[in-house]
Amino acid sequence: MKAIILSGGKGTRLRPLTYSGAKQLVPVANKPILLYCIDNIVQAGIKDIGIIISPETGHEIRNAAGDGSSRGISIEYITQEVPGGLAHAIKTARDFLGDSPFVMYLGDNLIGSGIERFVREFMNTSPDAFILLKEVDNPGQFGVAEVSGEGRVLRLIEKPDVPPSNLALVGIYIFSPQIHRAIERIKPSGRGELEITDAIQELIDMGCNVKSLVLDMWWLDTGKKDDMLTANATVLDEWLRGNIEGETDDASRILGRVAVGRGSVVTGSTVRGPVVIGENTVIKNSFIGPHTSIGSNVKVVNSSVEHSVIMDGSELRDIERLEESLIGRNVKIVRNNKMHKALRLMIGDDSVVEV
Ligand code: TTP
Repeated sequence: MKAIILSGGKGTRLRPLTYSGAKQLVPVANKPILLYCIDNIVQAGIKDIGIIISPETGHEIRNAAGDGSSRGISIEYITQEVPGGLAHAIKTARDFLGDSPFVMYLGDNLIGSGIERFVREFMNTSPDAFILLKEVDNPGQFGVAEVSGEGRVLRLIEKPDVPPSNLALVGIYIFSPQIHRAIERIKPSGRGELEITDAIQELIDMGCNVKSLVLDMWWLDTGKKDDMLTANATVLDEWLRGNIEGETDDASRILGRVAVGRGSVVTGSTVRGPVVIGENTVIKNSFIGPHTSIGSNVKVVNSSVEHSVIMDGSELRDIERLEESLIGRNVKIVRNNKMHKALRLMIGDDSVVEV
């Protein structure tokens, strides 16, 4: 069994962060999403991974994931020249995949469990395709499956007006080599992409056995800002262990599960977990509230932050209250008391500022 992780694409919904970096490297609890995907694949016993990259962000993905040798696995990189759709990505990986069955994992998806059971059931029952589904409240916004009692997939519909079920397609699939035959038969959709839903529907129409498994843990698609904040809060809630490697002074109060990385210094501050703070970061005379991730080399001084993600190298000074915010790398947010009631901003394209 091999695996491909899709880490190309445009990432339009996470602009402006994705102007300067890959969406799959945006950190959740200070760890890039892509690394959670790799962990899950490796834990399921798969050692041969191909990562689909775009020409624009491929180098960063390579730097973050490496060649796998340090964990005893092999990671290869496959460049998809244009983001031609999820089925197009499989086509691009054809040489890497050969005739092996494979897991396809979208590099911006996070789930609250491993995929061992999913892989094991595929091995035991050998369907032509096996898709992971999740019950959702708003199925009209997703690809939705109509499923028989035994989990056999009867039909897939993209963003239906009248959903036949509340089962959305999670971005994790296992395919037999039959999928390549189906992809050869489909045409680009209205948006010009080779869609994976069309390829799976084609498999069903070809009489192949497409089965499904319903995920009973959480699933988060990290496409947009609020999704990112929810993913961050959920991962901190579920997986963070308290661990203070940096320094905290006597005037500080550390409450609940808090991780402070090496070289970081917390003085005169209250940190109420779950909170993760990276390395060489300074937190001074501040309040850091629950569900906050602060990266490395960050300065937070005389400020209050809650339910937010602040990435590496940023600075926050004299900010009374910042919440539900996603702040990129090397950003400065400072209060200028001389400019009372005036805002002075230098903000990149497609940013959102609520004042
Ligand atoms: P999407 O989130 O569906 O697409 P996108 O990355 O272009 O984002 P947006 O809608 O915000 O513009 O993609 C799911 C995952 O698959 C994501 O990790 C990017 C990856 N992908 C590819 O690798 N190749 C592709 O051709 C496409 C469409 C996506």
